[in-house]
Amino acid sequence: MKIVSLFSGAGGLDLGLMQAGNTIIWANDIDKDAVATYAKNIGGHIVCADIKDIDIENIPLSDVIVGGFPCQGFSQANMLRTVEDERNQLYKFFLRAVKEKQPRFFIAENVRGILSLGKGNAIKQIVSDFGAAGYIVTVTLANMADYGIPQTRLRVFIIGQHRDLGEKMLFEFPKKTNGKDGNPSPWISIKSALDHYPDPDKPSNLLNHIYSSYKVKYRNFTGHRITDPDKPSPTILARGNGKGGVCAIPHYNGERRLTIRESATIQTFPENFEFIGKMNSCYRQIGNAVPVQFAKLLGQELIRLEREVL
Ligand SMILES: C[S@@+](CC[C@H](N)C(=O)[O-])C[C@H]1O[C@@H](n2cnc3c(N)ncnc32)[C@H](O)[C@@H]1O
Repeated sequence: MKIVSLFSGAGGLDLGLMQAGNTIIWANDIDKDAVATYAKNIGGHIVCADIKDIDIENIPLSDVIVGGFPCQGFSQANMLRTVEDERNQLYKFFLRAVKEKQPRFFIAENVRGILSLGKGNAIKQIVSDFGAAGYIVTVTLANMADYGIPQTRLRVFIIGQHRDLGEKMLFEFPKKTNGKDGNPSPWISIKSALDHYPDPDKPSNLLNHIYSSYKVKYRNFTGHRITDPDKPSPTILARGNGKGGVCAIPHYNGERRLTIRESATIQTFPENFEFIGKMNSCYRQIGNAVPVQFAKLLGQELIRLEREVL
């Protein structure tokens, strides 16, 4: 399918969708480094600009619009006014793009917190807004470890299908391939994903195999817990070292934090995918991404629909 990608970042979502056989015809992000990474590894179709400065008229028509709109604008206190909220322009842009372009499907990824925001009113409002735009919508909370990704990352996927395709949701959310209880097969551990990597303090040909000097000190909160080698990695973060930087997860050897390459591998980016920018920027691009391997499953479902259903 032909896809327009908003808030594309370094392109984890887009790469997976492409690996499945779809084509990204237009992409956008405001972040210079993420755009440079995307252009180098994925394609020059990405436009570097604040989405608020883009005229929707200039975005091409597509089968699908995808994007993880940042959700800071949803105020906890007053959800009913959210659409009028100035700070909520990014969500509004995504909604307007879908309303005006009327793609067959849209896929929006978001953090788990969106489900509890405004006591659940934010997500209700989102479903209702897209309903009014002509879509039936499903909201699914998924743990990436259940899909063979070596990371217990929880993310919400909001999937919309145009009412012209009927009232029954045709898009089938990917089936779990792994489980904590070993069914259908066991979760993948961080150790099995990373153990082949050489010591980053010794020279190697690996791209981005460097790590943050932010001290490993266990304090029992996110980014500061002992990493169990036999479990999937905790969520690869996009922020959190307290100084505006990113808190990389401690390596299970307890001696240092994960390298950029190791973090990217946990997010299932291929080894030849090179991140551009300073160390914090690279970690952030990775932490922001949809795991490539999961995005590929979403992309395969689009291909199935195109070939067998529509
Ligand atoms: C969660 S990330 C998306 C990651 C992407 N889906 C992936 O898989 O790699 C959200 C992105 O929105 C971008 N963004 C934030 N504000 C923006 C704006 N005003 N215009 C365009 N992009 C913006 C950020 O730079 C960030 O890359």
